[in-house]
Amino acid sequence: MPDQPDKTVSAATPSVESPRRMKPVIAIDGPAGAGKSTMAAYLARRFGFLNLETGAMYRALAVKAIDGDVSFDEEDTLLALAEHTRIELQPHLEGNRVLLDGVDVSRRVRDGDVTAAASRISVHPRLRAWMVTQQRKLGEAGGVVMEGRDIGTAVFPDAEVKIFLDAAPEVRGNRRYKQTGPADAPVTEAAVIQEMKERDARDRNRAESPLRPAPDAVSLDSTGMTLEQVLAEAEKIVRAHLSEQASPAEQAHLPG
Ligand code: DC
Repeated sequence: MPDQPDKTVSAATPSVESPRRMKPVIAIDGPAGAGKSTMAAYLARRFGFLNLETGAMYRALAVKAIDGDVSFDEEDTLLALAEHTRIELQPHLEGNRVLLDGVDVSRRVRDGDVTAAASRISVHPRLRAWMVTQQRKLGEAGGVVMEGRDIGTAVFPDAEVKIFLDAAPEVRGNRRYKQTGPADAPVTEAAVIQEMKERDARDRNRAESPLRPAPDAVSLDSTGMTLEQVLAEAEKIVRAHLSEQASPAEQAHLPG
């Protein structure tokens, strides 16, 4: 070992300045409505990790853009806005509480106008770079299940576990429609599916970190699976990684 630590850091040769995480990062990516949040919340609960919904950060900034009457197409203005914004995610069992400059916007971020705005602002490369920097800080210590669109490809390409969760658009749209509840949402199921397809197209076709599985991700298609089957499969993937890493004594203490 040289006296001075090597300044060149790579994932294969961690230096003194970048110690290996003690706990893993579990990256869950996929399109809207695939069931990522449910999976992330379940895995976090099962293994005692924090659950971080990165989409909520794009949504929170979208709220600020709407309130400030900022165009969703003006990257410079949006970036300046982001740099004067504090977005906090507070993981809870049922999902993340989202604070925008200290104000709880957890409900507001789920509104339809915010959903559409978040999709539009998330195409801008420099805004994404700002988000990625924040998200790395949140997850760098490990022990997190982070879900989004680019976690395994851009935020944590060295994540210990990567799952890409997909399902047919009609199935995802139908699930979303049922979640929003036909009673309180005066929209048709066809409209929900159509809107979802438009957001998918923006996610998959944007120039900067488009939605796609990382080469080393495990892909799961939940189209023909029950929720229980999907969660069991995800748990198996994480458990396999954890038991690979653990000593026999540690293995005895993995959640059973
Ligand atoms: O997962 P969600 O629906 O809450 O995400 C909201 C929007 O943010 C969605 O249009 C895609 C975008 N997003 C993204 O581009 N990258 C992420 N890591 C998370 C979300």
